[in-house]
Amino acid sequence: MKVAVIGSGGREHTLAWSLVRSPEVNHCYCLPGNGGTAGLPKTENVAIAVDQLAKICEFCQTENIDLVVVGPELPLTLGLVDQLQALGIKVFGPTKAGAELEASKSWTKQLLIEAGVPTAFGETFTEPAPAQAYATKMGAPIVVKADGLAAGKGVIVAQTLAEATTAIAELFDQGFAKIVVEEFLPGEEVSVLALCDGKTVIPLLPAQDHKRIGEGDQGLNTGGMGAYCPAPIAPPGVINQVQKQILQPTANALAKRGIDYRGVLYAGLMVSPTGEIKVLEYNCRFGDPETQAVLPLLATPLEKVLMACVDQTLYQLTPLQWHSGSAVCVVVAAGGYPGSYRKGDEINGLAEAEAQDVTVFHAGTELKEGKVLTDGGRVLGVTALGQDLSTAIATAYRGIEQINFDDMYYRRDIGHKAL
Ligand code: AMP
Ligand code: GLY
Repeated sequence: MKVAVIGSGGREHTLAWSLVRSPEVNHCYCLPGNGGTAGLPKTENVAIAVDQLAKICEFCQTENIDLVVVGPELPLTLGLVDQLQALGIKVFGPTKAGAELEASKSWTKQLLIEAGVPTAFGETFTEPAPAQAYATKMGAPIVVKADGLAAGKGVIVAQTLAEATTAIAELFDQGFAKIVVEEFLPGEEVSVLALCDGKTVIPLLPAQDHKRIGEGDQGLNTGGMGAYCPAPIAPPGVINQVQKQILQPTANALAKRGIDYRGVLYAGLMVSPTGEIKVLEYNCRFGDPETQAVLPLLATPLEKVLMACVDQTLYQLTPLQWHSGSAVCVVVAAGGYPGSYRKGDEINGLAEAEAQDVTVFHAGTELKEGKVLTDGGRVLGVTALGQDLSTAIATAYRGIEQINFDDMYYRRDIGHKAL
């Protein structure tokens, strides 16, 4: 079987790494891939960017790809899946209509309300004045969200009304036509990534991301600085509840709108101090870095699972098989991230790290003349498994100690919240 993975981040390295472990997968193309996928067995990088839809389609057709796996949201929202399907190519990921789940917060809010799925109450606005009036009526803290892809920068948790006013003005100034203003939900977050074949939904093990740049969850929001799995905040009983009250009703509501959703339903959930669970957001793809902590624990071969989603035979794979124990992924970033940072620094110690029993997933790296160079803000994700979380954490940090590049930065408290 020949597969193609679309994307170039840590998530895509993990997807390719998982796929090529199966003897069923003979070859994996990464479009465009990174310095890590360049070194995987049976794998080849192809220099086609994720938004070059016509080139991706032409490549997959020419190469007779059996399964295309789309990593990031951008090509999904641009309609890559629709175009590949029109050519008769099997592809894992939702269509453009399904990707609205991530692309439009107001669309999703409406869908959740209609489906009776618990979420923060809020309203959509197309003008600043009524949005401000609503925020004033609700009071701070309050959350202001852009209605569109914003690379993690579209949500402002305003602690004061003055902050809310600034956020509302700024989002409209940035050109967003709509914003959502919603209730602030206190609690602890958990990511439940579920597989959906249009009918059946199977949640994967829950993970927790660490979104802020600084230790103790301080500082700016990032794409994610580390993750661990399974997250004890969502034990199996809670996941059953999430499945019944959130995931399945969402899948049903999508189907009711005529959307045949075959991909990941990624629910970003808030668990309140009293155990109430509400949806903060949906993403239409695997999470990054959650994937780097979730997939290494999955024992059922990934290509089987993804193909079952595409073929609508997911029910045959329940329950999925998992390795015991825990996984943690610590992200290593370039100094300055999520602000400006340098690229092109040589990374040393990768082999020495892997000798410590970790898997180093590359994110922003490039392989050039035999050297691995930094090529992005989040550079690496170092994943370790362990019989329990504390063992996994200790192993991951032992691996990281072997790695060095100029100005490297990582949080030293990934997973500590769960201990
Ligand atoms: P989102 O992209 O909607 O997940 O928002 C990004 C981050 O903002 C989330 O991971 C939360 O930390 C925070 N957030 C979003 N919505 C809310 C809310 N209603 N209450 C509290 N925090 C929120
Ligand atoms: N880890 C957050 C995301 O993938 O959106």
